Amino acid sequence: MLLRSLSLSRSRLSTASRDTRRSLVSRSFSSSKEDPPKFDAEMVAVYMKIAEQHTHPKGPWPLMTKAVSEKVGDAPFKMLDIASGMGEPARSIGLALPKGEIIASDVSEDMIVKAEASLKDVPNVTPLLANAEDLSTIDDNSMDIVTCCYGYMFPADKDKALEETFRVLKPGGTLIATTWDRVDMISIAGDIMEAILGHRPPPPPLNPMALSEDGLFESMVVKAGFQNVITEKSTYPFDFGNDHGFQLKCGTLLIKYKIEELGAEEVAEKTFFECVPKYTTTDANGHMILPYNTFQMLTATK
Ligand SMILES: C[S@@+](CC[C@H](N)C(=O)[O-])C[C@H]1O[C@@H](n2cnc3c(N)ncnc32)[C@H](O)[C@@H]1O
Repeated sequence: MLLRSLSLSRSRLSTASRDTRRSLVSRSFSSSKEDPPKFDAEMVAVYMKIAEQHTHPKGPWPLMTKAVSEKVGDAPFKMLDIASGMGEPARSIGLALPKGEIIASDVSEDMIVKAEASLKDVPNVTPLLANAEDLSTIDDNSMDIVTCCYGYMFPADKDKALEETFRVLKPGGTLIATTWDRVDMISIAGDIMEAILGHRPPPPPLNPMALSEDGLFESMVVKAGFQNVITEKSTYPFDFGNDHGFQLKCGTLLIKYKIEELGAEEVAEKTFFECVPKYTTTDANGHMILPYNTFQMLTATK
């Protein structure tokens, strides 16, 4: 319902001022009956710490920003960022390339509220509530660039999401998307859940590793009509700091609610500190480092 109320008509989306668009988003959210989920300050700090890792020079946000910059040069451009979460990489790209007119979209109302806050100081990026599977508020052939960082793993109909991406891109436009190949946080979470349950649980329905199989995402992109598909891999570290309590919170972030539901905090803590040597190193400052997080960055043209 909220999505419908927020659905700007195509002409409005292309002509409405940034402020008008922002207030449309705000009004719709303030009328929502449900409160967004609440995180205490510590949980927010854990989330922010994990997000901060993606700014590593070999992480996805700098590499995607560089890829867009190489594509557009000094020219003005229109860009849609899909599954922006709290606004990335739209925010990084908007700051680096002020001639870009950028939409930061996400299916989650809660994320769009957070994106609104994080994008306040970036005048060329506008948040939009939109499902990647239905981008009907965006014109055909209207975008020079579509970006998506760690997003295509989640739509129920991934082929539809790629068809929609193809539709909104101009002929000759570029898709730049990152998907996970290896995330040791997920392996740690699997080890902990195995210790709690006595067996390894199946992957969750929203599975960050859903496109990690070699060649799978490329074949889906080609099926959607894209050409000139190029992929590159990058590995970057996660730094969980030197405080044991905070390390535990980072390492169990993905299964926090499951652990609480099962009352399994003690087993989780014991298993975490037993299993981390398999996945981590310690740097000179005593920080716990997960060195091998690996993603694939795919570029393709319409
Ligand atoms: C791992 S986060 C990535 C966020 C951000 N791009 C980043 O790099 O930090 C995945 C995001 O995908 C969004 N998402 C999941 N399914 C979606 C869909 N069908 N359409 C659009 N966004 C979706 C989620 O709400 C979440 O914000």
